[in-house]
Amino acid sequence: MRETPIRIHRDVPPTQMWSYAGSVPGPTIETRSGRGLLVEWRNELPSRHLLPVDHGICGAGADRPEVRTVVHLHGGKTPPESDGYPEDWFPTGRSVVFHYPNHQDATMLWYHDHAMGIERLNQYAGLFGVYLIRDDVEDALDLPRGPYEIPLILCDRLFSAEGQLIYPTSGIPGAPWVPEVNGDAMLVNGKLFPYLNVEPRRYRFRVLNASNSRFFYLSLSNGRPFQQIGTDQGLLPAPATRKSVTLSPAERADLTVDFGGAAGKQIVLQSQSFQLMQFRVGATTAAASKPLPLTLRPITRIPESSARKTRTLTLNEYKDPKTHAMLMLLNGARWSEPVTETPALGAVEIWSLMNLTEDTHPIHLHLVRFQILDRRPFDADEYATSGTMLLGKPVLPEPDEAGWKDTVRAEPGMITRIIVRFEGYAGRYLWHCHVLEHAASEMMRPFEVVG
Ligand code: C2O
Ligand code: CU
Repeated sequence: MRETPIRIHRDVPPTQMWSYAGSVPGPTIETRSGRGLLVEWRNELPSRHLLPVDHGICGAGADRPEVRTVVHLHGGKTPPESDGYPEDWFPTGRSVVFHYPNHQDATMLWYHDHAMGIERLNQYAGLFGVYLIRDDVEDALDLPRGPYEIPLILCDRLFSAEGQLIYPTSGIPGAPWVPEVNGDAMLVNGKLFPYLNVEPRRYRFRVLNASNSRFFYLSLSNGRPFQQIGTDQGLLPAPATRKSVTLSPAERADLTVDFGGAAGKQIVLQSQSFQLMQFRVGATTAAASKPLPLTLRPITRIPESSARKTRTLTLNEYKDPKTHAMLMLLNGARWSEPVTETPALGAVEIWSLMNLTEDTHPIHLHLVRFQILDRRPFDADEYATSGTMLLGKPVLPEPDEAGWKDTVRAEPGMITRIIVRFEGYAGRYLWHCHVLEHAASEMMRPFEVVG
């Protein structure tokens, strides 16, 4: 990790950013299921932060080094000592070697900073990259590959007129934390509104939302749908035709787009009113694409009856009556309070995420993959006054959520139910909202897998 001048656009002067190995996003790591990997992560960043640190945030006290890092492989089934626990940070001049066993299905994971209290700043500065796991099941499907398979890492930022990063602040002296960041500049693979020359054939795009807070609602300007073939944790059972794809922070979508029949056209990948990138479709292709397989990878539903425990966990937002500062918590508890979620290694649990706020929170659990059972509407006001859960009819997940997930959108007024098998390793992990500003406000809790 180093501070590096990065070019986001031909016409913009270089931006000072924090990079893994000199690039933003960092280098793409490509590996195979079952083949372990050791990575040495070296912190060679300056000792002063590029962005405004809020020392009042949990874990970011002025008694700690201002610049601290620790890398988390998001979606990895990783032993606890290599998982990048937020308190396992290390300062400038130090390094760690982490072990990634890769005992999991083919998918696109991503690595990013997770240092307690400053993760939102470290990621905003540029510390993220993708990590592809391949396996034989995926290979046998003969999906678009080589030059026809491209990761698209989406994120938003704010820039000064000089092309430098701006991280917004609250204006409150000594307490710069803001509850959300929404930039007006959209970057794809670290570039501002780039274009890609494509051939008139099918492509596979591995899309990641690496933003701090922003949600993307992806569509193509020519109105053609995507064929979605995978989610966070790998392939769907079958391709799903999607006119629009929603990605909250940290979610991934494995999309194919067929540019056949669009020779000579220009097509924009957009999110609501934002244009993200342009595809320029050429006249000929060097290798015609095969049709997509009708089925991809069987996914066995985990039966609800196998759950050893059901936990109802609330998502909360409070306003401090004195300071008016916002506080966001999971199940009413702060990060430093004793661990309350202690699933047994190998056990199945249902987590019912009861959202008492007015926002959608992308909830991520480390170590595991899970399935979404349903979302049940409930009356949050009634619950707040009388404690009764007046439940409506459950809403089943859409086909694009029918695969394995590691991040789920917990919508307001809903109880989002997920079913999880806590397999892999015993030890201390965490779960949190992936809106990084919310996580900094302690919407982040440990859990402990008990062996
Ligand atoms: Cu994307 Cu706790 O991580
Ligand atoms: Cu949140």
